[in-house]
Amino acid sequence: MTSELEEQIEKLASKIAHYNSLYYKLGETSEISDAKYDALKESLSRLAPEHPLLQEVGTSIGAGSEKVTHEYSLASLDKAHNLEDVITWAEKTGELFVVQPKLDGLAISLSYENGFLVKGATRGDGKVGENITPQIMTLDEIPHKLSEPLTCNIRGEVFMKISTFKQFGNEFVNPRNAAAGSLKQKDHRITRERKLSFFAYDIRPWQGIETEKKEMELIQKLGLPAVPTETGKVEDLEKIYRQWEKERDSLDYEIDGLVIKESSKEKQGEMGSTAHHPRWAMAWKFPAEQGSSKIISIGWQVGRTGTVTPVANLEPVSISGATIKRSTLHNVEELERLGIGPGDEVMLERRGDVIPKVIEIIVSANKKIDIPEKCPNCETSLERDGPFLKCRNKDCSAQRKLQIIYWLNTVEIDYLGEKLVEKLFESELITDIPSIYTLRETQISQLERMGEKSAGRIIGNIQKTKEMHLSRFMAAVGIPRLGPEVSALICKEYPTIEELKNVETEDLMDIDGIGPEIAETLTSYMRKHSDYLDQILEHVTIIEEEISEAVLGSFCITGTMSTSRKELEKRIKKAGGSIKGFSKSIDYLVAGDNPGSKLTKAEEMGIRIIDEKELEKMIGGAEDVGQATLF
Ligand code: IVH
Repeated sequence: MTSELEEQIEKLASKIAHYNSLYYKLGETSEISDAKYDALKESLSRLAPEHPLLQEVGTSIGAGSEKVTHEYSLASLDKAHNLEDVITWAEKTGELFVVQPKLDGLAISLSYENGFLVKGATRGDGKVGENITPQIMTLDEIPHKLSEPLTCNIRGEVFMKISTFKQFGNEFVNPRNAAAGSLKQKDHRITRERKLSFFAYDIRPWQGIETEKKEMELIQKLGLPAVPTETGKVEDLEKIYRQWEKERDSLDYEIDGLVIKESSKEKQGEMGSTAHHPRWAMAWKFPAEQGSSKIISIGWQVGRTGTVTPVANLEPVSISGATIKRSTLHNVEELERLGIGPGDEVMLERRGDVIPKVIEIIVSANKKIDIPEKCPNCETSLERDGPFLKCRNKDCSAQRKLQIIYWLNTVEIDYLGEKLVEKLFESELITDIPSIYTLRETQISQLERMGEKSAGRIIGNIQKTKEMHLSRFMAAVGIPRLGPEVSALICKEYPTIEELKNVETEDLMDIDGIGPEIAETLTSYMRKHSDYLDQILEHVTIIEEEISEAVLGSFCITGTMSTSRKELEKRIKKAGGSIKGFSKSIDYLVAGDNPGSKLTKAEEMGIRIIDEKELEKMIGGAEDVGQATLF
C-alpha cells in the first residue's frame, strides 16, 4: 500500500473515530449530518474494505445479545485471606512485586486494532463474554483512538464511583450492581448517564514490556487510566496492605482486597497458569465485613419521593465494630428476589460507609411477607413502578415532612434541625415548604423548651433564605435525580424558571452530562408540579447567579496538562475565574495534550481556545515556587 493511501485511510478512520466518540460519549450528532457520516464510512470501505472501524457497532446491539470469544482468556485469581499465606506464596514466587487495589467492579476486555477501539466485551466465563461495544464506548475514560496505532487487548475493571452511586439515591443495591446493570442496558444512552468509570490493569500481547510498572506506564501513555500500582519486596507487603486498609474508606471506589503480582513480565510468562488462575498473581482479600442475624420483622418506610421501601428489623449484631439493628431491603423487587420473611436467618454485609445490606438467606422460616397494597402512612393505594412501590399521593404527610427536611438541608437554615421540624410538623405549624416562610416567632417560642431568643434566631435564618440562586432552588425542591451538580449544569443553560418549565426533554439531553433519565424526570416534574413551584416562589425570590466570576471569565480544561488539573483549577478560581463543564457558555477552553472532542466543538462554537502557557499568563505564575521548579 502506498504511504499516501495509508495516510488517507488513517485520516478517514480518525474522523470516524472522532465522531463515534462524540456520539457515544456526549450524545452529540449535530456536528455532522447522518449523510456526511455515512459518506465517510463509504469512502473508508472503498479504500480499506476490511478496516476494523467498519464493523457494525451500531445502537442495534443490545448488551448481551451477541457472544464474543476472547482472544486472550480472562482468568480469575487465586485467593489468600491472611498475611501468612501471602508471604508463603510470595517467597516461593519471586523477589519484586507490584501491589494494586482489587477493584470491586466488572472485568471487561477492550479490543483495539491499529489504535482504534473496535470491541468491548464482558468477562463472561473467561473464555466467552458478551458484546457490550456501544455501552463501553460511552465511558469518558475509554478512548476511541489510542495515542499509538497498536493492535492490542486491554483488560480492566468497570465500576461506579461511590460518589456517583450516592447521587442515584436508593436506585441501586451497591456500586457493583449499579455498574453491572448499567453495562447491560440496551439503550447505550442510559449507560452514558450512569457515568461509569474504568481502570485498566492489563495489556496483551506483552512482547517488549519488561515489568508490571512499565506495563501500567504504557497503558497510561496510550490514553487509558491505569490502576494505582506500587512496587515492593516481600517484606514491604504487610505495610502496603495496612496502608490500603486504612485508606479504603476514603477512596471513591470500592475495593475488596489487593492484587499482588510478580513484577517481571518475563518471569510471569515462565510461571504460566494453572487451569484456573495465573501462578504469578494472588488476590489478598480483605476480611469480609459480614455477619449473620435473624429478622424480627419487616417494616415499610415512605421516602421523600413516595417510594415505599422494605426495612428489616434485626436481632442486634456487631459487624466490624458497628451494632446493626436494621437493614434496608432496598426495594420491593429485591425483597421478592431474596424471598425474605420474618424469622429468617440472614447474612448481612457492610461495605465502607454504605448502609448494611441483607445479601442472602441462610435458613428460611418460610414466612413470606405480604406486600402492602396501601401506603403505610396515608393509606393511598400503592402503584408498582419497575422495582419500586410508589405512593402517588402528593399530600402524603410522610413525603411532605421529608421534603421539608430536604429543603432545609439544601438551603441550609441553621438551628432548624430535624427534631424541631418534627415538632413543628406535628403541631401543624409547618405543613409544606411554603409554610416555612409564614412561620411566626411566637409560634416557635410556644413550643416546649424553646426560648424567644432561639425562636428569633430561627426566624432570622429563615429570612436569609428568601433569596437564592435558581440552581439551589431547583436542587432543594427535591426532584428525583436532581442533585446540586446536575442542577447547576442545567440552570447554566436554562437560567430562569420559565425556561425550565418549557424546556423539552431532547433539549436538556443536549447538555453535556445530562442523559435521558434525568431529562425525562425533570420535564415531567415541571409539568406536574408547576403550581407547587409557583406557591414556593410567592415566598422565595430567585436571584441571578453571581457575576463576580466574570472578572476573569469561565474556563473549561481539557486534555493533559503539565501540572495537576486540581491545582490549575484552584489557581484559576483564586485569580477570579470560574471552572465550568464544557458548554457553549464558557469563555475559554484550556487545551492540553490530546484534547479530544471538546477542542473541535469549541472551534466550531467560536469559543476562545488557549494553551497552558496563555493560561499561566492570565492567572499569574505558580503560587508555590518550590513546586513550580518540579516541572
Ligand atoms: S489481574 C490474569 N488486577 O479480580 C489476571 N484483576 O478475581 C487478571 N480485579 O476477574 C486479573 N482488580 O475482575 C487484576 N488490579 C487488578 C484487579 C483485578 C480487580 C478482578 C478482575 C478479575 C478478578 C479475579
